[in-house]
Amino acid sequence: MTREEFKIKEGIIGRSKEINDLVDIIMQVAKSDISVLIYGESGVGKEVFAKAIHEFSNRSSKPMVSVNCGAIPEGIIESELFGHKKGSFTGAVESRKGYFEIADNSTLFLDEIGELPLTTQVKLLRALETKEFMKLGAETLTRVDVRIIAATNKDLQKEVDTKRFREDLYFRLKAVTLTIPPLRKRKSDIEELTKHFIKGYCESNKLPLPEISEKALEILKNYAWPGNIRELKNTIETALALNRGKNLTEEMFSDLTNDYVDFEEQRNLPVFLRKSSEDADRELMYRALFELKKDIMEIKDLIVNQYHNPNFNNIDNNHEEILSIRDLEKDAIKKALDKVRGSKRKAAKLLNISERTLYRKLKEYDLIEP
Ligand SMILES: Nc1ncnc2c1ncn2[C@@H]1O[C@H](COP(=O)(O)OP(=O)(O)O)[C@@H](O)[C@H]1O
Ligand SMILES: [Mg+2]
Repeated sequence: MTREEFKIKEGIIGRSKEINDLVDIIMQVAKSDISVLIYGESGVGKEVFAKAIHEFSNRSSKPMVSVNCGAIPEGIIESELFGHKKGSFTGAVESRKGYFEIADNSTLFLDEIGELPLTTQVKLLRALETKEFMKLGAETLTRVDVRIIAATNKDLQKEVDTKRFREDLYFRLKAVTLTIPPLRKRKSDIEELTKHFIKGYCESNKLPLPEISEKALEILKNYAWPGNIRELKNTIETALALNRGKNLTEEMFSDLTNDYVDFEEQRNLPVFLRKSSEDADRELMYRALFELKKDIMEIKDLIVNQYHNPNFNNIDNNHEEILSIRDLEKDAIKKALDKVRGSKRKAAKLLNISERTLYRKLKEYDLIEP
C-alpha cells in the first residue's frame, strides 16, 4: 500500500512534510508489536494515528480499545484496567473484565498516560513485561497479548525528572515515539482539512456543498488553533450550521482575527474562543458542563475512597467511647469476616495477619462458630 492509499483508508488528511513523515513511520512500525508513544497537544490527532497503527497491524480484526487515563477516578483505575472479581471490594457486585482483558489480541490505547497514578504505573509495567496480571480479588494470573499505544500532551521526561512518572515504564513505552506537531506549525494542512470538514458535514447533513472564499481561508490559516484540528472542525461545523446553505465568507470567521486568547491557559478547557452572544452562551454552558463533570468525578473519587476507608462508618465520630485494643481487634476481625462472608483466608489477608494468627485470635476472643 502506498502512503497516499494508506492516508485515504485511515482518513488522515494533510500533505505537510510532518504528516507524511509520521505516516511513513507508522506504516513501518504498525505490523510489529512494539509500543508506541504519541506526543501532541489536545486535538492534533493522537487518537487518529493510534487507530491508523492498529488498523494497519495484524490485530485489526478486533477493535482497538481506547482508555482515557485522565478521565477515570484514581480509586477505580486499577479495577477498570485489570478488572475485578465479584466481592473483591464493597460495591463489586459483579465480576468485571478490565480493559486489558478486553483488548486481548488487540491494541490498548492509553490516552493521557501521564495522568496514571504511580501505583498503577507499577502494575502496568509488570503487566507489560510479563504479559500477565492479577485481577483485583483474584487468586490466579490472567494472561493477555496486548499491544500498547500510549499518548500524552505532557513532557514525560520532565514527569520522570520530577518523579511523577516511573522511568522504567517510560523506557518501556517509548520504544517508538511519534510527535504530532500542532496545527499552527503545519499551516499548509489547514486548507485541505477545512475542505474535508466542509464536505463531511454537508454530506452527513444532506446540505449542498458551499464555496469558501479566499479571504476566509486566509483567516483560518492565520489563526493559532489552540485546540488544533478538533477546534478547526468545530469552527467549520458551527459556521455551516449557523449559515445553512450559504457560502463561507470571511465575516463568518471574523472572531478568529480579534480577541487573541492566552491559549496556554485555556488548553484544557473546551475550546470556544469566539464571543458572539450565542457563542458566549454556549461557552458558559460548556464551562458549566465541564465544572459539573469535574464535580461528579470528585464525588466518585470520594465515594470510592470511602469504600476503601475502614472508618467509613464513623467519620467525624469524636464522641465515640474509647474501646480497648482488645475490643478494637475483636471488632476488626468480625468486620473482616463479615465482609468476606466468613472466608478465613481472605479475612486474614484483609487484616494483614497470617491465617494462623487469625485462628489463634478467633479462639482467644471466642469467635469460633459452633
Ligand atoms: N490528520 C487528520 N485528518 C483528519 N482528521 C483529523 C486529523 N487529525 C485529527 N483529526 C480529527 O480531529 C479531531 C481530534 O482528533 P484526536 O485524534 O481525537 O486528537 P487528540 O487525541 O490528539 O486529542 C477528531 O475529530 C479527528 O477525527
Ligand atoms: Mg484524544
